[in-house]
Amino acid sequence: MAISQQVFLRDAMRRLNLTRDVFAARIGVKRRALDTWLLPEGSQEARAMPEVVSRFVTEIVENGALMEKYAQSAQSGPLRDRISASGKHQLLSVDQFTRESVEELFRVADLMQPIARRRKVSRVLEGAVLGNLFFEASTRTRVSFGAAFCRLGGSVCDTTGFTFSSMAKGESIYDTSRVMGGYVDAMVIRHPEKGSVAEFAAATNIPVVNGGDGAGEHPSQALLDLYTILTEFSRLGKLLDGAHIVMAGDLKYGRTVHSLIKLLALYRGMKFTLVSPPGLEMPEYLLEQASRNGHVIEQTHDLAVGLKGADVVYATRVQKERFAGENMEGYSADFQINRAIVDACCGPDTIVMHPLPRDSREGAFDLSTDLNHDPRLAIFRQTDNGIPVRMAIFAVLMGVEGLVQHSLRDVTWSPPSHIGPDDSVFHGLD
Ligand code: NCD
Repeated sequence: MAISQQVFLRDAMRRLNLTRDVFAARIGVKRRALDTWLLPEGSQEARAMPEVVSRFVTEIVENGALMEKYAQSAQSGPLRDRISASGKHQLLSVDQFTRESVEELFRVADLMQPIARRRKVSRVLEGAVLGNLFFEASTRTRVSFGAAFCRLGGSVCDTTGFTFSSMAKGESIYDTSRVMGGYVDAMVIRHPEKGSVAEFAAATNIPVVNGGDGAGEHPSQALLDLYTILTEFSRLGKLLDGAHIVMAGDLKYGRTVHSLIKLLALYRGMKFTLVSPPGLEMPEYLLEQASRNGHVIEQTHDLAVGLKGADVVYATRVQKERFAGENMEGYSADFQINRAIVDACCGPDTIVMHPLPRDSREGAFDLSTDLNHDPRLAIFRQTDNGIPVRMAIFAVLMGVEGLVQHSLRDVTWSPPSHIGPDDSVFHGLD
């Protein structure tokens, strides 16, 4: 088959909305066999799926797709047109997505995995130049956007901070954006003011991606978070519909949770427990938007109460740089997520996430490092997923996602099988 067996099977399960167990039963195979077919090519335990299974899966997916097609005849055309904002190919907010379009983006991200895992290379964006404009602190978002663009064959021009930009000379967002649009083919912008990236986007017709606008949104982070949750749930045999998601920490200024709760609200029957210190609660407009689809939302200041029965625990850092008069340095010790509280309140299948960076300074009480050896800690699987998801965003916005599959060539070097010394056995695997 043209696409890899792993991408094919993951896509089939997502389209049919079935857990691994139910999917295995539906196609009449043992769960263990399915697991080996889902391993990336090149991994030692990976096995080829029999041709008859592949034909059967194609048949049931196509039947389902036909039904879907009639139900959603309005949804057609390239994905970038369906997620466009103000008629342009830009990614400013997760509000641009439906459940169907977000899952379509993830099918593209799955296609990127062999490149992200350094098995294959592609040059579909050869000649294209990305402008990475970061007016606020960043390591992973800036580098992963840049690396994602490079791994598609493009090149990157960077500028960081206000000090070395013409904005320090009083240049307007409009002028900066129009000028940059003449130099590069796509831009990623991070800026401390909420709504400012939309201003940049209004001043150019090239693709613009919001890399974080103050306490507003961080759509690419939320997309990679959702992709991580779906991948982890697939491994654990869980469905996202009906899951219990705990968001903990600075929910007032943390833009990653602002975007993530909206994306998760596209699913059915969710339970959200929001745990924050007094004064750092999730803004009202987001609670209202997320509860519109009938999801249950509970708020508490008690971490131990909030964590009970969580499928996902999403911790965040205190965004002190955005404080407007709040009087807090970090969390108090009873807001720290660590091994003891996760053991006491959560099960073996809970996953613990954080957008990073973790504030490791004394007195910050951010997510503890004592979970580093615990396979429930998904933070580095999460950061690794930043690459395929951001590659998918670029490929879709620039309209080249259909060229990727046939552009793949083998890499010439051999990367280590596990990137980090603490990576658990299934790290990077599904
Ligand atoms: C987050 C951000 O910038 O909003 N970081 C990131 O992009 N992964 C979270 C944070 O800074 O706490």
